[in-house]
Amino acid sequence: MKKTILTGIRPTGNLHLGHYFGAGKTWRDVQDEYDFYLEIADVQALTDNFENPDKVRKNIYELTKDLLAIGIEPEKVHFFVQSKIPEIAELTVFYSNLVTVSRLQRNPTVKTEIAQKKELFGNDGESITYGFLGYPVSQAADITAFKGEVVPVGDDQLPLLEQCREIVRKFNSIYGETLIEPQQLLSNASRVKGLDGNEKMGKSLGNAIYLVDDEETVKNKIMGAITDPNKIKKDDPANPDVCMVYYYHKLVNNEENVNTICNECKKGARGCVQCKKELIEAMNNFLKPIQEKRKFYDEHPEEVDKILEKGTAEAREKAIETMKEVRHAMRIDY
Ligand code: TRP
Repeated sequence: MKKTILTGIRPTGNLHLGHYFGAGKTWRDVQDEYDFYLEIADVQALTDNFENPDKVRKNIYELTKDLLAIGIEPEKVHFFVQSKIPEIAELTVFYSNLVTVSRLQRNPTVKTEIAQKKELFGNDGESITYGFLGYPVSQAADITAFKGEVVPVGDDQLPLLEQCREIVRKFNSIYGETLIEPQQLLSNASRVKGLDGNEKMGKSLGNAIYLVDDEETVKNKIMGAITDPNKIKKDDPANPDVCMVYYYHKLVNNEENVNTICNECKKGARGCVQCKKELIEAMNNFLKPIQEKRKFYDEHPEEVDKILEKGTAEAREKAIETMKEVRHAMRIDY
C-alpha cells in the first residue's frame, strides 16, 4: 500500500520558477511513490482575497493547467478543489475548539504574515479577520480529511504542519485514536531568488519569471536582471556569485556551460550582454516543453474540468469516510 501524501496550493496566480524549483518539481518527482492528493486551496486563498473572488476562480484553472504542464499526471494524482469538499469546512469547525487564539497568534508563519499585513495596511492589526487567523486550523482539516501521512512543505510551512500535528494529538487524546499525525517530506528543493536579487521570488515582489512567460517577456526580464555591480566594462573580471544571471544559468543550463560561464566571468572573458543572451536561450528552451504541454489544456478546457471533477470526486469519497469516523469518535453520529 502506498502512503498518502497531501499538499495544497493557493490559486492566486500562475506558477513561477520559485514554485517550480521550490515545490512543483518535487511533487512531480514523487507522484509514483504515493497516493497523492493535490488541493487547489481556493477557500484558503479567499482568506486574503475574499474581495477578489473572480481572481481566485480564474486561477483555479490557471494553476491546474500549470501543474499539468510541469508533468503532474492526472492519472496518478487526485487534483481537487477545496471548496468542493464540505467535509473540510466541517472538520475546521470541530478542530476550532482544540486550538487557542493565542496559540494561533504565536504561530510563526501567521505571525510573519500579520506583521506583513500591518506594514502593508499601516494599522495595528484591527483588520485581521477570524478566517485569516484560523487558516492553520483549516489547513489541518485539509491534511487530516484525507488521512495525509506525508506533507511536502518548505520551511515557511513547517509551523503550519506542527499546528496540525498538535490538533491531531489533542483530538486523539480526547476522542480516541482517529486521526493520523502527518510527517514532513524533506526535500532538497530550495527557495529561488528573484530577478532583483531578493532572497525570494514572489508575485507581489514583481521579480518573477512565470512558466507561461513568452519569449519576449523572458527576454525583457532577463535583460533587466541584476549582475555584479562592480563589473563596469565588458572585460572586467567579476564575481558570478553575486550575479542573478549566473544564478539562473545554474538552474536551467547544463553543467558544462555553467562551468564555462563561471570561469569566463571570473577571468573577465565574458560580457554581461552575451551572458544574458545565452540565458534567454537556455530559459526559453527550459520553458518550451512546459508551454507546449500547457497549450493542449488551453485548447481543451473541458479536459481540465474533467480532471478536477474526477479528482474531487475521489477526494470527496475519502473525506466522507474520515468524517464518519470523526463523527463517531466525537459522539455526534446521530
Ligand atoms: N498554505 C499553503 C501555501 O500557502 C497552501 C496549502 C493549503 C497547503 N492547504 C495545504 C499546504 C495543505 C500543505 C498542506 O502554500
